[in-house]
Amino acid sequence: MAKILVTGGTGYIGSHTVVELLQNGNEVIIVDNLSNSNVQVLEGIYKITGINPAFENVDCTDYVQMERVLNKYPNIDAVIHFAASKAVAESVEKPLMYYRNNLLSLINLLELMLNYKIPNIVFSSSCTVYGQPDKLPVDEKAPIKKAESPYGNTKQIAEEIITDLAAANKQLKAVVLRYFNPIGAHPSAHIGEIPNGIPNNLMPYIAQTAAGKRTELKIYGNDYNTPDGTCIRDYIDVVDLAKAHLAALTHLLNNKQEKQVEVFNVGTGRGLSVLEMLTTFQEVNKLKVPHKIVARRKGDIEQVWADPTHANNTLQWKALTPLTETLKNAWKWEQNQKK
Ligand code: UD1
Repeated sequence: MAKILVTGGTGYIGSHTVVELLQNGNEVIIVDNLSNSNVQVLEGIYKITGINPAFENVDCTDYVQMERVLNKYPNIDAVIHFAASKAVAESVEKPLMYYRNNLLSLINLLELMLNYKIPNIVFSSSCTVYGQPDKLPVDEKAPIKKAESPYGNTKQIAEEIITDLAAANKQLKAVVLRYFNPIGAHPSAHIGEIPNGIPNNLMPYIAQTAAGKRTELKIYGNDYNTPDGTCIRDYIDVVDLAKAHLAALTHLLNNKQEKQVEVFNVGTGRGLSVLEMLTTFQEVNKLKVPHKIVARRKGDIEQVWADPTHANNTLQWKALTPLTETLKNAWKWEQNQKK
């Protein structure tokens, strides 16, 4: 059993990871300012696990408050750092907000980790760092492309900050997880994604359209150089993704990691087009989702999917949930939201 600080622990991926941590006997302290989540998530976590983890309503950019948290909960073994803003278009409108939120929170946290002798961090990065890869599936050795947005840039800079700090501090160990596209919800439907306003991402948009909250799904472009003309992504079940954090943590805490910083793709290894996703969602849940093809969305890349071999072999982690289950869980969660 370990004592884990989870920033952003009431968010979409954070809450699912907290559940996995608790179910595996870890003690969890959540730090979250609820900027893109709400306290009901804690009830969902309790319903699934029967445990109320410690919760601190704190903004990670607030160094004084973060220090107070670390004084209150001594001897933390590792930090999983989810807290960040993630809307690509918003980051283009408000770059300073993104650089402040995403980088200041990381810098504060790393500084406190050094001061309080917390040696391990798992960091949430994104496949966005690859841009449009030259070779597919993309592995961790692929070159980092110039970021398409301030959001993407914060992930690249954050990876560099962690690498530079590790070079200067031999006791620091980090796992950087590059997520592909997380979808779905916990099978209990007690926790899931709570999009802020109109969803930007495909899965919540499909689910909300199926529920009648949106009139129709707009498919952004069918003239890409792919088999059906729509973009291809690697959609990973959020519970599988949460389990990757547990695997990363075990790897770190058991001192299995030789390099100070290790980077892992967290994806399924399977590319799916927008139309394939939509069709499968409709079939599995036996419903129709009104949709139309519209112009391409600015900034979208054509196709990307992961080579997850490094995580499969080194972390003994693999995405196991069948897509059909994931899509059923996404719909179950959406229906639960209406109640
Ligand atoms: C986006 C971000 C990525 C970020 C991730 C999580 C970009 C380029 N990438 O991923 O950096 O980590 O969100 O927040 O913005 N689609 C539609 N109709 C919709 C919504 C989406 O056709 O209403 C299509 C998109 O064109 C894309 C695919 O569905 O081809 C997936 O889109 P989305 O879920 O937004 O994820 P990404 O754009 O891959």
